[in-house]
Amino acid sequence: MKHTDIREVMNSKELLGKTVTVCGWVRTARDSKNVAFLALNDGTTLNHLQIVIDKQGGKELPAEAGKLGASLKVEGVVVENPNNNSHEINAENITVLGTCPEDYPLQKKFQKLETLREMPHIRVRTNTFNAVFRVRSVMAAAIHRFFQEKGFVYVNTPLITGSDCEGAGEMFKVTTIGYSDKYESEEDYYADDFFGQKAGLSVSGQLEGEVAAMAMGKIYTFGPSFRAENSNTLRHVSEFWHVEPEVAFAELPDIIELAEEMIKYIIKDYMEKCPDELKFFEERFEKGLTDKLNNVLNNEFEIVDYTKAIEILKASGVEFEYPVEWGCDLKSEHERYITEQVYKKPVFLINYPKEIKSFYMKQNPDGKTVAATDLLVPGVGEIIGGSEREADYDKLIKAMNDRNMNLDNYHDYLDLRKYGSVPHGGFGLGFERMIMYATGMANIRDVILYPRTVGNIR
Ligand code: 4AD
Repeated sequence: MKHTDIREVMNSKELLGKTVTVCGWVRTARDSKNVAFLALNDGTTLNHLQIVIDKQGGKELPAEAGKLGASLKVEGVVVENPNNNSHEINAENITVLGTCPEDYPLQKKFQKLETLREMPHIRVRTNTFNAVFRVRSVMAAAIHRFFQEKGFVYVNTPLITGSDCEGAGEMFKVTTIGYSDKYESEEDYYADDFFGQKAGLSVSGQLEGEVAAMAMGKIYTFGPSFRAENSNTLRHVSEFWHVEPEVAFAELPDIIELAEEMIKYIIKDYMEKCPDELKFFEERFEKGLTDKLNNVLNNEFEIVDYTKAIEILKASGVEFEYPVEWGCDLKSEHERYITEQVYKKPVFLINYPKEIKSFYMKQNPDGKTVAATDLLVPGVGEIIGGSEREADYDKLIKAMNDRNMNLDNYHDYLDLRKYGSVPHGGFGLGFERMIMYATGMANIRDVILYPRTVGNIR
């Protein structure tokens, strides 16, 4: 269907005075004796295009065209709209493509995000989700551009895997065998299954990413990861999009530098490309959002040792729900205190106790900590988890044995430490958490098209 994007009609001076065809959905309609106005949106911009129907001049508003949610094709002349410094259309012809009855769920102007979550197929048509998904798209493109410009190779790691990267056992099983009591043991059951062994959905592409980095030096993945953790929080979903660079010949400070550069790059790109959306989020969801993001661009991120963070938390005088001791895993309340109250900017926490981190992290000479980092940001908490990897074969085997891991599943991974092992590392950025930080949306369910959470799928 030949037509012009509303974004172009509203912005292009060359179209003034020309006749164009636009398509879109009716967002508001006002009808009076002499003139009718429609606000049309086609999803190419947050702004609605005003369609003017000059009834005195003999034009008609077809009955079904004035209904919210109806889809239209409109032919008309582009003219200046003096009210908003943009363009509008004097309609010549209006064709109703799809009617929309009175039970259209978006009749009310403002609906709660909770209500909208019940209708994911409809909520995308609101301004909020229109803005969220455009920002998501712009940021995804920025991530690819950032890594491509730096010479990283984009690799696609498998989604079905036989190993559990984070070692926490929070994997969804992949099986083709339904319920059956014919198996004597779990082993028998898996042996009979599709892959002849236990398989699951990957929680991270890192292990295979390391394989690729040992050949191509600098790689990144950008795909879904799956976590079966029972965390019903504002920042956990069971299926999230994961950006994971992996770099050979790199130590922890190199990884931190890369992460900071990447975050700044995508925020800058978003601020340049989505001024309307940023303004919208500032007005509707987070006052001070623009200043916050400018602060991110103009300041160095803080790097703080885990041990120091524990000291700060203990000296804070705050009664945390979960008390703090050296060796404890930090909860969201602690992370947010450090980044929101103490430093008021993004903070890389580094050198965590080895017991609370994954087997693959490089063991520090102190024998107690590993060269890991989490990036914590105000409002969201952890958005990145990463580390330098243990490159020493014997130390890695010991860490795996300490955790009672089945080494047979990690044959390939261990080989990397046998054949030309090098210092290397990487990180994982939770894409949805990045979008939350950039938009001020407080619930992760509102930055992904179809959120998957415990007890909730459609
Ligand atoms: O800290 P995580 O578990 O690290 C890894 O998976 C490493 N293998 C990454 C690497 O070094 N290549 O997860 C990384 C990030 C978290 O910081 C968080 O932003 C996001 O992934 N994440 C989730 N996002 C939404 N819902 C969940 N359930 C998430 N779990 C992790």
